[in-house]
Amino acid sequence: MIPFQKLLDDNKLWADRQVEADPDFFKRLESLQSPEFLWIGCSDSRVPANEITGTRPGEIFVHRNVANLVVNGDLNLLSVLQYSVEVLKVKHIIVCGHYGCGGVQAAMTNRHFGVLNEWLRNIKDVYRLYQKEIDTLPTKEEQLNRMTELNVKEQLMNLAKTSIIQKAWKTENAPYLHGWVYALDNGILKSIIEMPPNSPLDPVYKFEL
Ligand code: CO
Repeated sequence: MIPFQKLLDDNKLWADRQVEADPDFFKRLESLQSPEFLWIGCSDSRVPANEITGTRPGEIFVHRNVANLVVNGDLNLLSVLQYSVEVLKVKHIIVCGHYGCGGVQAAMTNRHFGVLNEWLRNIKDVYRLYQKEIDTLPTKEEQLNRMTELNVKEQLMNLAKTSIIQKAWKTENAPYLHGWVYALDNGILKSIIEMPPNSPLDPVYKFEL
Protein backbone atom coordinates (compact mmCIF):
# COMPACT_ATOMS: atom_id res chain seq x y z
CA MET A 1 0.00 0.00 0.00
CA ILE A 2 1.16 3.54 -0.72
CA PRO A 3 2.21 4.88 2.72
CA PHE A 4 0.18 8.08 2.60
CA GLN A 5 -2.96 6.18 1.62
CA LYS A 6 -2.76 4.41 4.96
CA LEU A 7 -3.16 7.77 6.70
CA LEU A 8 -6.42 8.44 4.86
CA ASP A 9 -7.70 4.91 5.47
CA ASP A 10 -6.80 5.02 9.16
CA ASN A 11 -8.44 8.42 9.44
CA LYS A 12 -11.71 6.91 8.22
CA LEU A 13 -11.46 4.10 10.78
CA TRP A 14 -10.68 6.61 13.51
CA ALA A 15 -13.64 8.86 12.61
CA ASP A 16 -15.96 5.83 12.56
CA ARG A 17 -14.75 4.73 15.98
CA GLN A 18 -15.33 8.19 17.49
CA VAL A 19 -18.92 8.27 16.26
CA GLU A 20 -19.48 4.73 17.46
CA ALA A 21 -18.36 5.65 20.98
CA ASP A 22 -20.01 9.07 21.01
CA PRO A 23 -22.49 9.88 18.21
CA ASP A 24 -22.36 13.65 18.88
CA PHE A 25 -18.56 13.84 19.09
CA PHE A 26 -17.95 15.78 15.87
CA LYS A 27 -21.14 17.83 16.09
CA ARG A 28 -20.06 19.12 19.47
CA LEU A 29 -16.54 19.99 18.32
CA GLU A 30 -17.78 21.62 15.16
CA SER A 31 -19.74 24.23 17.04
CA LEU A 32 -17.29 25.07 19.81
CA GLN A 33 -13.57 25.18 20.55
CA SER A 34 -12.79 25.90 24.20
CA PRO A 35 -9.46 24.33 25.14
CA GLU A 36 -8.06 25.07 28.59
CA PHE A 37 -4.47 24.51 27.52
CA LEU A 38 -1.98 25.99 25.09
CA TRP A 39 0.87 23.62 24.33
CA ILE A 40 4.17 24.94 22.96
CA GLY A 41 6.22 21.89 22.14
CA CYS A 42 8.95 20.51 19.88
CA SER A 43 8.06 19.42 16.35
CA ASP A 44 9.68 16.04 17.11
CA SER A 45 7.36 13.25 15.94
CA ARG A 46 7.91 11.35 19.19
CA VAL A 47 6.30 14.04 21.35
CA PRO A 48 2.66 14.32 20.23
CA ALA A 49 0.86 16.70 22.62
CA ASN A 50 -2.53 14.98 22.71
CA GLU A 51 -1.28 11.45 22.93
CA ILE A 52 1.20 11.86 25.79
CA THR A 53 -1.26 13.89 27.89
CA GLY A 54 -4.23 11.66 27.25
CA THR A 55 -6.23 14.57 25.86
CA ARG A 56 -8.75 14.52 23.05
CA PRO A 57 -9.55 16.83 20.12
CA GLY A 58 -10.80 20.15 21.48
CA GLU A 59 -8.75 20.02 24.67
CA ILE A 60 -5.35 21.46 23.72
CA PHE A 61 -4.43 24.34 21.40
CA VAL A 62 -1.06 23.43 19.95
CA HIS A 63 1.99 25.26 18.60
CA ARG A 64 5.11 23.28 17.77
CA ASN A 65 8.49 24.27 16.39
CA VAL A 66 12.06 23.00 16.45
CA ALA A 67 13.17 22.83 20.12
CA ASN A 68 10.00 24.48 21.53
CA LEU A 69 11.29 28.04 21.35
CA VAL A 70 9.44 31.21 22.34
CA VAL A 71 11.17 33.72 20.11
CA ASN A 72 10.52 37.41 20.45
CA GLY A 73 9.33 38.49 16.99
CA ASP A 74 8.09 35.08 15.82
CA LEU A 75 4.83 36.20 14.24
CA ASN A 76 3.53 32.63 14.15
CA LEU A 77 4.03 31.98 17.85
CA LEU A 78 2.84 35.44 18.91
CA SER A 79 -0.36 35.02 16.88
CA VAL A 80 -1.02 31.64 18.48
CA LEU A 81 -0.29 33.10 21.91
CA GLN A 82 -2.49 36.16 21.52
CA TYR A 83 -5.40 34.19 20.07
CA SER A 84 -5.29 31.47 22.69
CA VAL A 85 -4.94 33.92 25.59
CA GLU A 86 -7.29 36.70 24.49
CA VAL A 87 -9.93 34.81 22.51
CA LEU A 88 -9.87 31.21 23.72
CA LYS A 89 -8.87 32.31 27.22
CA VAL A 90 -6.73 29.27 27.97
CA LYS A 91 -6.03 28.78 31.67
CA HIS A 92 -2.67 27.04 31.31
CA ILE A 93 0.25 27.43 28.94
CA ILE A 94 2.77 24.60 28.78
CA VAL A 95 6.21 24.88 27.23
CA CYS A 96 7.33 21.30 26.79
CA GLY A 97 10.85 20.25 25.85
CA HIS A 98 12.17 16.73 25.66
CA TYR A 99 15.40 14.95 26.48
CA GLY A 100 17.23 13.82 23.36
CA CYS A 101 16.08 16.91 21.44
CA GLY A 102 17.86 17.11 18.08
CA GLY A 103 17.52 20.90 18.09
CA VAL A 104 19.34 21.24 21.41
CA GLN A 105 21.99 18.75 20.30
CA ALA A 106 22.55 20.58 17.02
CA ALA A 107 22.80 23.95 18.77
CA MET A 108 25.57 22.63 20.99
CA THR A 109 27.77 21.83 18.00
CA ASN A 110 29.52 24.14 15.55
CA ARG A 111 27.94 22.54 12.52
CA HIS A 112 26.41 24.72 9.83
CA PHE A 113 22.76 23.87 9.10
CA GLY A 114 21.72 26.66 6.77
CA VAL A 115 18.73 28.75 7.81
CA LEU A 116 18.34 26.58 10.90
CA ASN A 117 21.47 28.29 12.29
CA GLU A 118 19.45 31.44 12.95
CA TRP A 119 16.77 29.49 14.82
CA LEU A 120 19.21 27.42 16.87
CA ARG A 121 21.15 30.48 17.89
CA ASN A 122 18.42 31.10 20.46
CA ILE A 123 19.57 27.89 22.19
CA LYS A 124 23.22 28.90 22.00
CA ASP A 125 22.17 32.08 23.81
CA VAL A 126 20.65 29.94 26.59
CA TYR A 127 23.95 28.06 26.85
CA ARG A 128 25.87 31.32 27.15
CA LEU A 129 23.64 32.34 30.08
CA TYR A 130 24.27 29.10 31.94
CA GLN A 131 27.70 28.17 30.58
CA LYS A 132 29.29 27.90 34.05
CA GLU A 133 26.71 25.40 35.27
CA ILE A 134 26.61 23.35 32.06
CA ASP A 135 30.40 23.10 31.75
CA THR A 136 30.73 21.58 35.23
CA LEU A 137 28.59 18.56 34.25
CA PRO A 138 30.81 15.54 33.59
CA THR A 139 29.19 13.93 30.56
CA LYS A 140 27.88 15.21 27.25
CA GLU A 141 24.53 13.54 27.99
CA GLU A 142 24.13 15.33 31.33
CA GLN A 143 25.04 18.61 29.67
CA LEU A 144 22.44 18.15 26.96
CA ASN A 145 19.79 17.08 29.47
CA ARG A 146 20.41 20.14 31.60
CA MET A 147 20.45 22.35 28.51
CA THR A 148 17.04 20.93 27.60
CA GLU A 149 15.70 21.87 31.05
CA LEU A 150 17.25 25.33 31.03
CA ASN A 151 15.98 25.94 27.52
CA VAL A 152 12.43 25.22 28.73
CA LYS A 153 12.97 27.56 31.65
CA GLU A 154 14.21 30.39 29.43
CA GLN A 155 11.40 29.91 26.91
CA LEU A 156 8.87 30.08 29.76
CA MET A 157 10.51 33.31 30.93
CA ASN A 158 10.26 34.58 27.36
CA LEU A 159 6.49 34.04 27.56
CA ALA A 160 6.32 36.07 30.77
CA LYS A 161 8.27 38.85 29.07
CA THR A 162 5.57 39.35 26.42
CA SER A 163 2.99 42.10 26.87
CA ILE A 164 0.37 39.49 25.89
CA ILE A 165 1.02 37.49 29.08
CA GLN A 166 1.61 40.52 31.29
CA LYS A 167 -1.67 42.02 30.13
CA ALA A 168 -3.52 38.73 30.68
CA TRP A 169 -2.05 38.44 34.18
CA LYS A 170 -3.96 41.58 35.11
CA THR A 171 -7.29 40.03 34.15
CA GLU A 172 -9.41 37.30 35.72
CA ASN A 173 -8.30 34.96 32.93
CA ALA A 174 -4.69 35.06 34.06
CA PRO A 175 -2.96 32.00 32.59
CA TYR A 176 -0.67 29.75 34.63
CA LEU A 177 2.66 28.99 32.92
CA HIS A 178 4.26 25.55 33.14
CA GLY A 179 7.70 24.39 31.95
CA TRP A 180 7.92 20.65 31.47
CA VAL A 181 10.33 18.14 29.97
CA TYR A 182 9.32 14.83 28.42
CA ALA A 183 11.50 11.73 28.64
CA LEU A 184 11.57 9.71 25.42
CA ASP A 185 12.76 6.59 27.25
CA ASN A 186 9.81 6.23 29.65
CA GLY A 187 7.15 8.62 28.39
CA ILE A 188 7.04 10.63 31.61
CA LEU A 189 6.60 14.41 31.84
CA LYS A 190 8.56 16.25 34.51
CA SER A 191 7.93 19.77 35.77
CA ILE A 192 10.99 22.04 35.61
CA ILE A 193 9.46 25.40 36.45
CA GLU A 194 5.98 26.64 37.35
CA MET A 195 4.96 30.28 37.02
CA PRO A 196 1.64 31.25 38.58
CA PRO A 197 0.05 34.47 37.36
CA ASN A 198 2.04 37.56 38.34
CA SER A 199 5.23 35.65 39.12
CA PRO A 200 8.19 37.93 39.72
CA LEU A 201 10.03 39.09 36.65
CA ASP A 202 13.24 41.05 36.24
CA PRO A 203 11.94 44.65 36.51
CA VAL A 204 13.43 45.72 33.20
CA TYR A 205 11.00 43.37 31.41
CA LYS A 206 7.88 44.71 33.11
CA PHE A 207 5.52 46.86 31.11
CA GLU A 208 3.37 49.62 32.58
CA LEU A 209 0.01 48.16 31.65
CO1 CO B 1 13.13 18.27 19.90
